[in-house]
Amino acid sequence: MADILSKNQAHFNEIAGKYDQHNAAAIVQLERQIQAKLDFIGVKSGSRFLDYACGTGMLSRVLAKNVTESIGIDITENMVLAYNAQAQSEGTSATRSAFLGNLADPSDPAPSVFSDAIFFDFDVAGVGLGWHHFDDCNLAAKRLVDRLKPGGVLFVVDFSAHEMDAEHATHHGVTHHGFSKEQIKAMFEGAGAGGGFAFEEFAEPIDFNTIHGEGEGHGHAHDHGHDHHHHEHTHSKKVFIARGSKI
Ligand SMILES: C[S@@+](CC[C@H](N)C(=O)[O-])C[C@H]1O[C@@H](n2cnc3c(N)ncnc32)[C@H](O)[C@@H]1O
Repeated sequence: MADILSKNQAHFNEIAGKYDQHNAAAIVQLERQIQAKLDFIGVKSGSRFLDYACGTGMLSRVLAKNVTESIGIDITENMVLAYNAQAQSEGTSATRSAFLGNLADPSDPAPSVFSDAIFFDFDVAGVGLGWHHFDDCNLAAKRLVDRLKPGGVLFVVDFSAHEMDAEHATHHGVTHHGFSKEQIKAMFEGAGAGGGFAFEEFAEPIDFNTIHGEGEGHGHAHDHGHDHHHHEHTHSKKVFIARGSKI
């Protein structure tokens, strides 16, 4: 657990400042496709939203017009800083803020940093491309459902089951190689969010850029302040969206 967690933190701390820029094409595609699914998710206007594994805040941006408040949580400090810097520069920091921490730590069922009332009673909790990084998705699902109101919605956007080379996965702190509908349904049901479960694959595959540093093979990116050590390649991946209500 600590190992996967620290790999994720190291990797995302390095790339946080460049994340939006490097993934610009994918983010545009994803934001548009998720936007079209707000009814499918069941986001009602006036909702409070928990953006878990928020990164720079893609889901918070997509839901911004439909929710009164977004709370982001991420284990990577530089992602939390990027999320809050963006909210600040857009003048939305009163309704959009991110916090550092881990809700899915098996040794800490009630993290004291998330004991305040603002971290409870969400109408919607979502995870965008974070699910495949979790050490224990079942535990993460349960902990997120704990933070929902009765009838609240959990949704996940992540990769459909696909092949990925093991070396890439290891360096990037990836623990899962995409998910099937059956796997996600079982996780939602196990966590108590199987109400009205629905799963759809986005019609368009999403084009992701992977950045490789010199001498690392399929390693993670290093910020040397200049680009000639890096090369990028683009690969298309199928992405799904799943939703279920807390029963
Ligand atoms: C691929 S990024 C996606 C960020 C954002 N949700 C988006 O859609 O653009 C994955 C994020 O998951 C975070 N993460 C990984 N494991 C986590 C955990 N156990 N708890 C919270 N965040 C985690 C990473 O720090 C990173 O910011």
